[in-house]
Amino acid sequence: MTPTTSTIQLTDLSTPESKNSITARFANDVKKGLTQQQKQLSSRYFYDGEGSRLFQKIMQLPEYYLTRSEHEVFTTHQQTIAEQLAAKGNFHLIDLGAGDATKTKIILKQLLQQQADFDYVPVDISGDAMTELCEHLQAELPALQAHAVVGDYFDALEWLDTNKPGRKVLLFLGSNIGNFNPDERSAFLQKVRSHMQPGDMLLIGMDQCKAPETILKAYDDAAGVTADFNLNLLHRINRELGGNFETDQFRHFALYDPQIGVMKSFLISQQDQNVTIKATEQTFHFHAWEAIHTESSYKFTLQQAETIGNEAGFNIQHIFQDKNCYFADVLYVVT
Ligand code: AVJ
Repeated sequence: MTPTTSTIQLTDLSTPESKNSITARFANDVKKGLTQQQKQLSSRYFYDGEGSRLFQKIMQLPEYYLTRSEHEVFTTHQQTIAEQLAAKGNFHLIDLGAGDATKTKIILKQLLQQQADFDYVPVDISGDAMTELCEHLQAELPALQAHAVVGDYFDALEWLDTNKPGRKVLLFLGSNIGNFNPDERSAFLQKVRSHMQPGDMLLIGMDQCKAPETILKAYDDAAGVTADFNLNLLHRINRELGGNFETDQFRHFALYDPQIGVMKSFLISQQDQNVTIKATEQTFHFHAWEAIHTESSYKFTLQQAETIGNEAGFNIQHIFQDKNCYFADVLYVVT
């Protein structure tokens, strides 16, 4: 390769059909969720353009400690993290749900400084986010070899198996793992494991169990940004599925269960009302004070981090934490 060639590439695995099926799946999931005895909607649908913008705002909130804590973990331990990722020779650094990669860039800089033999593979379902990230990487880290992939995590991992063989170091940051319930989480980790070989590594960002009021405030901020983020799900149904939710007749409610270590968010109907959604060809009834469960964000003890990993075929190599021990980035190796 000549030095003048661009070292940043982008592969889009999404197709017009996969885009159609995303809307069809959204309609189907909404229908299923609102027909249940205990109504629910999936947090995976929070992130349309507006939802992603609101999540960026959440990450700046004084109460939302998660992002700042993980940033501190990366800043404090960047040298050790980079050394450990690179210790077994050349590798692909695969960032599942990369987004704007703010935290990953700290490690990328450190790896470049240590002259590690690697390339960076950010993976994200958002084509816009990956196009933007490629532009930023090109400008900020011109020495970096990178190949962005737009698509579903497992489509991307399959694509990598055939197109980029070699040692894998996977990143799953930001406590995104917290949105899975225990069954989904173990299925996810086992599926990830099935794409990995001995010597491969996995770094997972996990929010830790801590004082319940600290956690609660992070999901019920004074400025009401999290409430808007939650309510955007109803706006999105109105926009994309032809719904007629009167969104000010619903309100955000958050609670923390300290025994399970889970933060739960709801949208609560403030009155008896009906909502029609064109794409599902149905009218849904809400009784006064009926709740829709919209998100679970699990918190972890270090003991759980170990058990969860072991059950899926991973051993802990190292745990990196911020000084408050609010957040842990757990480095696993394949057993
Ligand atoms: C992006 C899943 C890590 O659960 O903390 C932020 C999403 N929800 N505020 C989280 C979220 C409400 C966030 N994750």
